[in-house]
Amino acid sequence: MLLQGTGALRAAAEAGTAIPGFVAYNLETVQAVVASAETAGTPVLLQAGSSAFKHAGRDALMSLTLGAARRSTAALGVHLDHSRDLAEITACLEAGYTSVMIDGSHLPYEENVALTREAARRAHDAGAWIEAELGALAGDEDVSTGAAAAAGSMTDPAQAAEFTEATGVDALAVAVGNVHGFTATPVRLDLDRLAEIHKSVPVPLVLHGASGLPEEQLLGALERGVAKVNVNAELRRAYLRAVADALPTALPGSDTVATWAAGREAVTAAALDITRRLSRGAR
Ligand code: 13P
Repeated sequence: MLLQGTGALRAAAEAGTAIPGFVAYNLETVQAVVASAETAGTPVLLQAGSSAFKHAGRDALMSLTLGAARRSTAALGVHLDHSRDLAEITACLEAGYTSVMIDGSHLPYEENVALTREAARRAHDAGAWIEAELGALAGDEDVSTGAAAAAGSMTDPAQAAEFTEATGVDALAVAVGNVHGFTATPVRLDLDRLAEIHKSVPVPLVLHGASGLPEEQLLGALERGVAKVNVNAELRRAYLRAVADALPTALPGSDTVATWAAGREAVTAAALDITRRLSRGAR
C-alpha cells in the first residue's frame, strides 16, 4: 500500500529512528525492497532519481515502482530522488508519487530558494511531501568515486533554518561530511554541525550517502534528527556480488533467471538488515 504523508517520517524523528530511502531502478531491486519491507513490517521508501529514469525510462520505472508499492501489504512511499527539473517533478506527482526531492543545491542560495519554493507548492497541491537539499554532497549518485567531503560546502545551520522557513519543505537533506557511494577511508560526519542543524530546523533531516557509513556515525545521525536515510551503493554491491557468484553456474546454460534471482535475494537480505538497524535506532 502507498505510504502517504509525513506521519511516519515525523514519528521516526521523534523516536530517534529512521526510514530507509532505498534507491531501486530495476525489476529485481524493486521486488527485493518490497519483499524486505513486507518482512520488516516497518515503512520503507522506494526511490530513484533523474539518472535512473534515463536508464530505465521514466514511464516504465514509475509504473513498475508505483505498481509494486500499491500491490504490497507493506507501507511503501514512492519518492523521486535528486531532481533538478520541475517538469519531472510534476510528472511524478501526477503519476501518484507520495514524495519528491528537489535538488537545487548546485544553485546560488536565492535561486535554490525560488526553485524549491515552487517545487514545494506543486508537491503540496498534489498532496505529497517534499525534501530539498542545502549544502553540496561529494561523490556520485550512481557509482562509487571514492570522493571526500569538502568542508566548505557543508550545510550552515542558520541558513538551513531560513531556507526551511522560506521554502516550506517537509524534510531537509544535509551535507555534514556524508558522501555518495563507498569511500576509500571511513567517513566521519560533523555530528556537532548536525546537532546545530537539528536544533534550528523544525523538519526531519535526511542523510544521503549512507553506504559504508560506520555504524556509530549512523547512530549518531539518528540521535540528531535524521529520520530518512538514503541507501544505494550497498544494494548495488549486494546485487552485483550475488550475480558475479551465480555467473559461473549460469553461463553454460545461459540461465539469466537464476542469475537475476540471486541478485534479488541478496538485495532483499541487505535491505532487510538496513531497515532493521534503522528502525532500532540508537536504542
Ligand atoms: P549511497 O550510494 O552512498 O548509499 O547514497 C545514496 C543516496 O544518497 C541516494 O540519494
